[in-house]
Amino acid sequence: MEENKKQKLLIVDDEEMNIRLFGAMLRNQGYTFETARNGVEGLEKAKKLLPDLILLDIMMPLMNGYEVCKKLKDAPDTQHIPIVLVTALSDRDSRLKGLEVGANDFLTKPVDSAELMVRTRNILKIKEFEDFLKGHNKLLETRVEERTLQLKRTLQQLSKANEQLKESSAKLKEGYIDTIHRLTRVAEYRDEETSLHIKRTGHYCTILSKWLGWQEDDISTIYYASPMHDIGKVGIPSDIILKPGKLTLEEFALMKTHSSIGEKILHGSPSNIVQMAEKIAGTHHERWDGTGYPRGLKGEDIPIEGRIMNIVDQYDALRSKRPYKPPFEHEKAFRIITEGDKRTMPEHFDPQILKAFKETAAQFEDQRLFSFFLINWSLSSFSLFCFLGFISPASFLSL
Ligand code: C2E
Ligand code: SIN
Ligand code: SIN
Ligand code: SIN
Ligand code: FE
Ligand code: FE
Repeated sequence: MEENKKQKLLIVDDEEMNIRLFGAMLRNQGYTFETARNGVEGLEKAKKLLPDLILLDIMMPLMNGYEVCKKLKDAPDTQHIPIVLVTALSDRDSRLKGLEVGANDFLTKPVDSAELMVRTRNILKIKEFEDFLKGHNKLLETRVEERTLQLKRTLQQLSKANEQLKESSAKLKEGYIDTIHRLTRVAEYRDEETSLHIKRTGHYCTILSKWLGWQEDDISTIYYASPMHDIGKVGIPSDIILKPGKLTLEEFALMKTHSSIGEKILHGSPSNIVQMAEKIAGTHHERWDGTGYPRGLKGEDIPIEGRIMNIVDQYDALRSKRPYKPPFEHEKAFRIITEGDKRTMPEHFDPQILKAFKETAAQFEDQRLFSFFLINWSLSSFSLFCFLGFISPASFLSL
């Protein structure tokens, strides 16, 4: 509820009844919104208010929804605002036309309250991420400028310059790590996974990229980039993510869009970590034999980072508890990847990376043991501190 209130919606509809209906549903969930009664008014209000989401009717006097949508998507100030077009029942043509003018999603009349809420929530979540990354990028640009200035000033003092450069890159890295933690925390809440799991994917990628002979810098980049691979799952309805059983074909088709959604969320960052994360998000479900998604890329057309993540992701998914499966032992996960089962085949993986996986499998197993001890060690030292009276658990919680 708290979170809903930060974002504002705009409802554009010429029918009073519809405005009241949407309004009641949204108000009920704690959203704030403004209204407009025709296309011209809607366009003006959208430009003035810069809402986080627009629900746009199509048939309206003065200017119809398509025109409004096109105008908003053509203007730099408003093109990032998500637009949901409200169409008449099962009207395929109007949807196609809507896609052409850049609509982000559709709602069918008569509008179902549950559907309106799910779509609204998902779209706003993605918008929140995009805004967050945009803000972060701006901050980053300023920092890079600062850094450049700093470097110029210290050109004459070479010894000092070296130190300052080191310091600035450390600060930049802090910024990235903060971004990654904030992003993955939200994805985590969606997947109900621990941050330990997030670190683990980074370590697995490190093991493989080391074996492949990567340089330190690139290994460090993939370590930080890989945990964002499933960030696009924030755009998938939670009832699909959390479904205890097998997904239907339709549900899986929707699930598969998490690759492109992730790619879109991470797009356009000046950070090499986020750039690699974009590549990984977009290609971690491609397969060596061309049977993967979303593009069906084959062999070396798949970026190496995606090929690494593909095997890491599957090993980790197999070892982890998911709403739809229990956790498997290392031996079972290893067997599924190297020998195949009904779902996974060795042909899916880059042979060289599969070889790397086989040769480093012992380290994959160690990694989990290590995490296990780490968490137990932190928990026990925390209790020890509490016991000794260094920290009171109550004061810790109130932080
Ligand atoms: P995820 O749970 O992170 O799984 C990532 C990938 O690990 C899967 O990609 C698949 O290649 C592999 N994997 C996971 N579990 C198994 C398993 O039990 N056996 C085998 N052989 N491979 C496994 P995929 O198939 O593209 O799925 C992408 C995402 O779709 C999954 O991410 C998960 O969130 C969701 N999903 C897939 N199948 C189901 C399902 O039956 N039920 C539910 N609720 N979600 C599913
Ligand atoms: C490397 O070989 O060190 C890096 C390869 C890559 O980043 O794609
Ligand atoms: C995440 O890192 O947020 C989820 C990873 C996964 O589902 O494999
Ligand atoms: C998970 O990451 O899904 C649960 C924790 C674990 O498997 O260690
Ligand atoms: Fe994925
Ligand atoms: Fe995954």
